[in-house]
Amino acid sequence: MSTLFSVLVDAVTPEGDDCVRLRLVARTGQDDLPRFEPGAHIDVMTPSGLIRQYSLCGSAEDRTGYELCIKREAASRGGSESLCAGIRRGMELRISPPRNAFMLPDAQRHILIGGGIGITPLLSMMMYLQGRNADWQLHYYTRDPGRAPFGDMLRQGPYAPRVQFSRSLKNGYPDVLDTPSPDTAIMLCGPDGFMNAVFSHAVAAGWQADQVHTEYFRPTETTHALSDRAFDVVLARSGQTVNVPAGQSIAAALLAAGVDVDLSCEQGMCGACVVPLVAGEGDHRDMVLTAEEQGRSIALCCSRSRSPSLTLDL
Ligand code: FES
Repeated sequence: MSTLFSVLVDAVTPEGDDCVRLRLVARTGQDDLPRFEPGAHIDVMTPSGLIRQYSLCGSAEDRTGYELCIKREAASRGGSESLCAGIRRGMELRISPPRNAFMLPDAQRHILIGGGIGITPLLSMMMYLQGRNADWQLHYYTRDPGRAPFGDMLRQGPYAPRVQFSRSLKNGYPDVLDTPSPDTAIMLCGPDGFMNAVFSHAVAAGWQADQVHTEYFRPTETTHALSDRAFDVVLARSGQTVNVPAGQSIAAALLAAGVDVDLSCEQGMCGACVVPLVAGEGDHRDMVLTAEEQGRSIALCCSRSRSPSLTLDL
């Protein structure tokens, strides 16, 4: 697990119809909070004792505080709901340093497409791009634009001309997707069905799959089972070989062998457990690494091996 540290809740405000926005600051006498890049998220130890990941939705230039937006979920298993219901200004929370599995790539133009609470990582990207006079546009799909989180901010000031609201994909996809362009990056975040639909539409229109960058908030359905066959993991630095049996993750096998592994979500979503892959063919089951990155890195919490062994830079 990532090392957690304490911060203070500086503000708790309603955001839109069904969200709560938190501002977290360093405790008195502590240094500024660690720097973060647009698209980053943190782990939060919620009052219920469950750890949850939330995107940082404020400006990455602001070293004095982190902004989070938490959606009240009827089907919440307790983590988010305990934050929404139990957090007050002045309380302490334990969080991890920022981690980024949704980096903004270099491009001439950025198209940001968010569905529902998937807007949150796109906001820090939008602020970053706007601050650099970059070419960007935001397409925000939300059931009720009049009461959407951050709706007022996005309808006002410098952002407004570049933001388009829509209630549903049934009303159409962003027109810009009809004209693929090689210098453009698409940043996509939202519910699984929304993301899958936009991704498929973009690829069918002629965009390259690696131009569409995604972040999932929960694991996608997988047909894989962890109980595949066993394989070996060779640690290049120490020369140690660890067998990973069927039904056990690489991370669990390494921890059992006394090898330190950084873990957080344990679902292939956060990137905490990603390490360099030196040799062997990974059977990648994460939602963090791009196809290109999977050639040289592997997520230890969820991936397996297509070759008899994998060599890791550990
Ligand atoms: S622990 Fe989050 S991706 Fe592996």
